[in-house]
Amino acid sequence: MPRAPVVARTLPSLRRTLESLRTRRATVALVPTMGALHDGHLALVHQAKRRASKVVVSIFVNPTQFAPHEDFGSYPRTWKADIAKLTQAQVDLVWNPDVGTMYPAGFATRILTEGPATAGLEDRFRPHFFGGVATVVGKLFTQCRPDVALFGQKDYQQLKVVTRMAADLDLGVKVIGVPIVRERDGLAMSSRNVYLSTAQRAVAPMLHRVMKEAAKRLRNGGNLETVMADGTKTIGDAGFALDYFEARHAETLAPIRSLKDGPVRLLVAAKIGTTRLIDNIGV
Ligand code: PAJ
Repeated sequence: MPRAPVVARTLPSLRRTLESLRTRRATVALVPTMGALHDGHLALVHQAKRRASKVVVSIFVNPTQFAPHEDFGSYPRTWKADIAKLTQAQVDLVWNPDVGTMYPAGFATRILTEGPATAGLEDRFRPHFFGGVATVVGKLFTQCRPDVALFGQKDYQQLKVVTRMAADLDLGVKVIGVPIVRERDGLAMSSRNVYLSTAQRAVAPMLHRVMKEAAKRLRNGGNLETVMADGTKTIGDAGFALDYFEARHAETLAPIRSLKDGPVRLLVAAKIGTTRLIDNIGV
């Protein structure tokens, strides 16, 4: 059995442990998470191990990226299982601050993000979201000072927002995107998939199927408007409440009118019952 990672819960303890890890010109990779770890998170950890000599995983369910009506209180918390997985993956350090450590009384600063953060995708339905994400990731970067940080393409807009922020604020962190890890039936792994009932879980992979089909038709010269309208209808007919299904420029997230405006990424967000799923695919 590999050794369990060191767990730091206070800033002095984090600093001490990072100092001991950084000896002998070690490089540090950070994998920010909210816990409830699955194979998608572990793919980030495996990439991190390839990119740096020491790996830090943060586990912090960040209240500022949840709206009052969202699932902060009920978000799955699976500490013991998480640590077992991170031990197996040979992670060096787990950064697990509590809310008071991350946001002490009087905390009054927020990172305001534009560009990809105002593309009209997630931001349209979760207006508070990227401010919360950028602020906590900015703090995680300055607390841990990693050389590289790994983010999943699962949260595609988030990946672009964080990449932009790290560059704009000269944080000295190279942000690396990792492909989406899926269940065997195509459903993108997510900590929130545990909310799905058996019936909803059976329908959920439809989102990926529709996107795969749409991407294929587009590659084969299909008309963008027709293909997207067909996909939108199929998703609705399957019982989802669709937030968006859109074709965007894969880098800028700007709307596109044809494949020639690309590289193109299809992005979807839809609710099944009360659970909101997001996914995306390259064309
Ligand atoms: P969380 O949802 O826990 O995700 C942590 C990281 O894992 C993110 O970069 C996310 O894109 C990645 N990830 C999740 N599911 C994945 C999958 N199926 N395949 C590949 N990567 C996947 O995203 C957050 O936490 C938070 O917003 C955070 C960045 C930690 C800031 O609070």
